[in-house]
Amino acid sequence: MGGLARQCEENGADVIELNFSCPNMMDEVLGSAIGQNPELVERFTAAARRGAKIPILAKLTPNVDAMSPAAEAAMRGGASGVSAINTIKSVMEINPHTYISSPAVHGMSAVGGYSGNVVRPIALRFISEMGRNPALSDMYISGMGGVETWVDALEFLLMGARSIQITTAVMQYGYRIIDDLKSGLNYYLKEKGIKNVREIVGEGLEFVSESTDALERDTIVYPKFDRNACIGCGRCEISCFDGGHQAIRLNENRRPILDLKRCVGCHLCVLVCPMEAILSSGKRVAKKNKKECYEELDSS
Ligand SMILES: Cc1cc2nc3c(=O)[nH]c(=O)nc-3n(C[C@H](O)[C@H](O)[C@H](O)COP(=O)(O)O)c2cc1C
Repeated sequence: MGGLARQCEENGADVIELNFSCPNMMDEVLGSAIGQNPELVERFTAAARRGAKIPILAKLTPNVDAMSPAAEAAMRGGASGVSAINTIKSVMEINPHTYISSPAVHGMSAVGGYSGNVVRPIALRFISEMGRNPALSDMYISGMGGVETWVDALEFLLMGARSIQITTAVMQYGYRIIDDLKSGLNYYLKEKGIKNVREIVGEGLEFVSESTDALERDTIVYPKFDRNACIGCGRCEISCFDGGHQAIRLNENRRPILDLKRCVGCHLCVLVCPMEAILSSGKRVAKKNKKECYEELDSS
């Protein structure tokens, strides 16, 4: 490992990225098998560190519960930082006629790595986990997983990534999307008066907690209906009835009426409305005073 790292350096590499995360490696001590074992991450990183002075990034696997143990091990081994995420183990597209999942070789498929825009929320969760970890506060994070646009890249920066990598979107659309991403991000920074992109790294971390226990649960916010924008499709009524709290009925013009006693403020109706005619900005009420509030609102 050290010899390979030395050769990379001697042949002009600026950075070495150690792949502790590919889920498709055949050997038991390659790829994600290393990333899932912090002790191996530390040992392999230390071996590479002995061979080279250039920055070393440990590329970590999302096929774990938490990424911090492997990231902390990489730092102990002498890594300059981490890259995350690699692909997520998955099975997909099971053919209803042949029962064979995809991609297949001679009718046989295998668990493989999933990537692209659907994995972005999972990637952001891991980046934010490491970004919030005080033991990793000095660690360099190179973020990836489903980045396609400048808005996606911005999300990674706000969660603590200091650089962005893209694989799947380049395979789909070509390198051109990186020019678009850079110009979109530059335009955003200029609009916001932000001189250097470094200023926004990690700025979103204080607004995300690992646990929902940190969220306030003493009040609820009623949805607010914009009846002029409503087209009477009834999706809010169906979703609330079948998947929520049966708190919406439609009037004779197919416009929603909220039952304040039943509504728990889940805002499923806001999510499903195709016209954005239901807003999350209705009256906030304390749960313990809910009865008085709906009596007051009902009569108003
Ligand atoms: C076809 C393909 C091949 C990949 N090969 C590698 C690889 O050799 N080494 C590696 O560390 N990651 C590899 N990856 C993972 C990507 O670098 C990246 O971590 C992951 O796909 C998430 O980013 P994305 O959604 O932008 O693709 C590969 C991904 C794909 C889709």
